[in-house]
Amino acid sequence: MEKRTLLYEGKAKKIYSTDEKEIVWIEYKDSATAYNGEKKASIAGKGRLNNEITSLLFLKLQELGIGSHFVKRISPTEQLVKRVDIIPLETVVRNYSAGSFSKRLGMEEGLLLSRPIVEFYYKDDDLGDPILTEDHIEILALASVEEVEELKVKALQVNKVLSQFFKELGIVLIDFKLEFGKDANGDIILADEISPDTCRLWDEKTKEKLDKDVFRRDLGDLTEAYETILARLGGRTACT
Ligand code: C5P
Repeated sequence: MEKRTLLYEGKAKKIYSTDEKEIVWIEYKDSATAYNGEKKASIAGKGRLNNEITSLLFLKLQELGIGSHFVKRISPTEQLVKRVDIIPLETVVRNYSAGSFSKRLGMEEGLLLSRPIVEFYYKDDDLGDPILTEDHIEILALASVEEVEELKVKALQVNKVLSQFFKELGIVLIDFKLEFGKDANGDIILADEISPDTCRLWDEKTKEKLDKDVFRRDLGDLTEAYETILARLGGRTACT
């Protein structure tokens, strides 16, 4: 497989085309950003950790019957994925109160919700990724009513599998963000990444934060926290 032109550069990743039309090449960067890019840093090793953790989690999901864009990890910081058109929605699942949910609703962090909930945010940096109702999504024509339902069902399936998986590793999955895209057939598939950048992960016993809140809130060494997650996941995937 040959890497061709740069298609897109985001805050944490670069995406290149390849000599195969339906495959793109993702490079995970060492940059860390928070608060819509207001806080920035370069953290050596972060790209490798997120690439490895995302690869392991997508492989685990695949094993349990949940497909994604993931094809394979090809180097410490790179992976091949299926080309999709990203739906401009961030789908957030929450099991416990935290982050913007706690802030918006005046609820302390770490309270178990009576059931997992799904929220949608508009992927738009200029607007600061605002929260959306299902009516907003329909009016803005970001996705159809049926597609929104499909996103919810898929996000809750991922939550069920990942919550149980992390529980076995002594980690509580507090909340996380997913992105979905449409493949060449128009089917909705799970895309982007699943890593400590996009999940809140707390140690079950100590409640220590092992995710990007370490960076957002200056709580200590981010790579140490991410290394803990990778080690509990059992190391790294084979790299071809
Ligand atoms: O900030 P908030 O509480 O809404 O975040 C919910 C979850 O979504 C957290 O796990 C956070 O890491 C993730 N998230 C993300 N990318 C964003 C916003 C939130 O990965 N742009």
